[in-house]
Amino acid sequence: MEFVAKGLQGYFRIMLININGVITGKEDAKVSVFDRGFLFGDSIYEVTLTYDYVLFKLEEHFDRLWESAESLALHISHSRKELTYEVNKTLKQLNEKRAYVRIIITRGEGMIGLDPNLASKNNVIIICKSLPENPNWWYETGVEMIIANILRNPKESMDPSIKSGNYLNNVLAYAEAKKQGAFDAIMLNRDGFITEGTTNNIWMIKNKEIITPPLGAGLLPGITRQTLIELAKLKNLPVSEKNFTRDELYSADESFLTSSTKELVPIVKINGKSIGSAVPGPLTRKLHQIYKDHVQECVKQGKNKLFFTIFPSDSD
Ligand code: PDD
Repeated sequence: MEFVAKGLQGYFRIMLININGVITGKEDAKVSVFDRGFLFGDSIYEVTLTYDYVLFKLEEHFDRLWESAESLALHISHSRKELTYEVNKTLKQLNEKRAYVRIIITRGEGMIGLDPNLASKNNVIIICKSLPENPNWWYETGVEMIIANILRNPKESMDPSIKSGNYLNNVLAYAEAKKQGAFDAIMLNRDGFITEGTTNNIWMIKNKEIITPPLGAGLLPGITRQTLIELAKLKNLPVSEKNFTRDELYSADESFLTSSTKELVPIVKINGKSIGSAVPGPLTRKLHQIYKDHVQECVKQGKNKLFFTIFPSDSD
């Protein structure tokens, strides 16, 4: 394989990129300027991670990837099995316990023009890199958010439930947050309801009820969000998907955000206003522990299957 021929030394070992099956280092990872992902954001992607070498919720990420593809009529040239094989091949070379895994499928390259039929074949890019533990202070102190001035794209336009490569809406909201020294931005929809953060889902707790906006508000169906809804139900904790406004969020007892790589991060201030007593709340901590226990359970189960996912047999 080209990767081996070049020798490992030449590459930055803690990041590897698989482009259409060929693994390279950061410097050599190049895609054509005629790729529609570059030209138009005409691509889809997923982000997951490994815990102790075990890929976390790959099936769920694949479900969402294929749903995004269907919404955009973007045909994925790989089967799930082929994509699993490529992800595992890259992770095996990377050999990091805790890795960030980004799977990008672009519609491919073609003559410049909006017509999706100009592209003939997907580009499939898998970026794997070592993922340091998140800073402790996120969980110990909690983070400050802003409500962005920019609204979330309405569902009727570029539907936020599609995880496409077009993240300019989120980039602009995030830039607002950074300008104000905040951790991240929360976006509203046109009806004044909370949707989500720029790369995470938003939650509030009021009178012990755990609430997150419904998918109808216009947001990404986060895998962490869905997992937490199911875990809370299993533990008989009152959880619901309900619209809420910025004022309702300000008056919450607790708030937090969720994403695959961040898990649950307590939110203690929004637009300078304290949420509850401006410290990570007890129910947020409890939910995070429940989530962490679930991760451990998945890792334990994943270990038993690891051999097969790294070396899928040709017969299945
Ligand atoms: N972001 N909302 C948006 C807009 C997101 O981009 C993400 C994920 C989430 C949370 O989804 P999940 O729980 O499935 O990770 C919500 C990933 C982490 C990213 O873009 O890096």
